Amino acid sequence: MGLGIDLGTATTVVSDARRGIVFDEPSVMLLRRGGSRRERVLAVGQDAADLVGRAPSASFSAVRPLEDGVVTDLETTRLYLRSVLHKAGRRVWEFPIRAVIGVSVGSTALERRALLEAADEAGLRPVTALDGSIAGAVGCGIDPLERRVHMVVDVGGGTAEAVAFCFGGVLAHRTSKLAGDEMTLAVSRYLREQHHLHVGELEAEDLKIRSSAEENGPLVVQGRDAATGRPRLATVQSPEVADAVRPITDEIVRTLTACLDDLPPQAIADVLAEGVLVFGGSARVDGLPRELERGLGLPVKLAENPTTCVAEGAARALRNRPLLAAYGRG
Ligand SMILES: Nc1ncnc2c1ncn2[C@@H]1O[C@H](COP(=O)(O)OP(=O)(O)OP(=O)(O)O)[C@@H](O)[C@H]1O
Ligand SMILES: [Mg+2]
Repeated sequence: MGLGIDLGTATTVVSDARRGIVFDEPSVMLLRRGGSRRERVLAVGQDAADLVGRAPSASFSAVRPLEDGVVTDLETTRLYLRSVLHKAGRRVWEFPIRAVIGVSVGSTALERRALLEAADEAGLRPVTALDGSIAGAVGCGIDPLERRVHMVVDVGGGTAEAVAFCFGGVLAHRTSKLAGDEMTLAVSRYLREQHHLHVGELEAEDLKIRSSAEENGPLVVQGRDAATGRPRLATVQSPEVADAVRPITDEIVRTLTACLDDLPPQAIADVLAEGVLVFGGSARVDGLPRELERGLGLPVKLAENPTTCVAEGAARALRNRPLLAAYGRG
């Protein structure tokens, strides 16, 4: 049995074709400096994320397998995938394992080859790359082989993209390198400038996520006073966070709406009837679907399973040869 894998900049999700989601954790790995290869991985996923900032940096280093949706280096990605599969319960004798991995529609052939090679060396064989947005659409029950045109938007951590497709082919796509990570940066910039508070990336992200969950309540955030350097708490209102993030969402919406420029009128009529499906972790940002709807001038729906649909669709694609033949990339 095979696996569907969404190796994201922020989160890695693995779906087993038979058992469903078997891994859904932050894309990070903690390595011990020096030592032999085998001993190097100290923790992966949530355990590694919990240790980041706690483990002494002289002896450990935190690495991310992807940056801006692109493989940083082959050996790190191989080691990362192997550790993820081990943590997901796959044992040595089960390898090789068939897999479909989601890739960015804007990725180059070289970037895809690097990812596929790392996956192959990690024991995923045969492995096929599939546009992540197409995989996400499949995970939401869309059939990308039908004649009707569909459009989906994936707003993740490192990238945001819009893809329109039908009948086995991509009609138009746009990719933005601005996404959730930039929103987090905007939040920490805002706290520094308006509240004179320095916060770490984790605190800024946590505040961003809390503000999208709790509509109007005051939010407490901990950081260091910009002047004294001492730990201090600040109280922030949700709308402040929304304002801080808005320039980024506006820019994302501007980039993605240009996808419509390449669509013929009949295609737009299809999308108008059906609506645009939006997924990815940052699709949960308060008001993002609404702004996307305004920018596109088309109805936008948030997916039911916005953070797992790519991996689920990739796993489903394993059994769909025509789909892989049409949309698979190497
Ligand atoms: N409830 C939420 N509100 C706002 N942002 C959120 C929420 N949940 C997750 N995020 C953000 O979503 C982003 C991660 O989304 P996702 O897991 O889809 O990214 P990814 O697939 O790893 O990245 P990419 O596709 O860009 O490589 C992070 O920036 C995170 O802060
Ligand atoms: Mg993603």
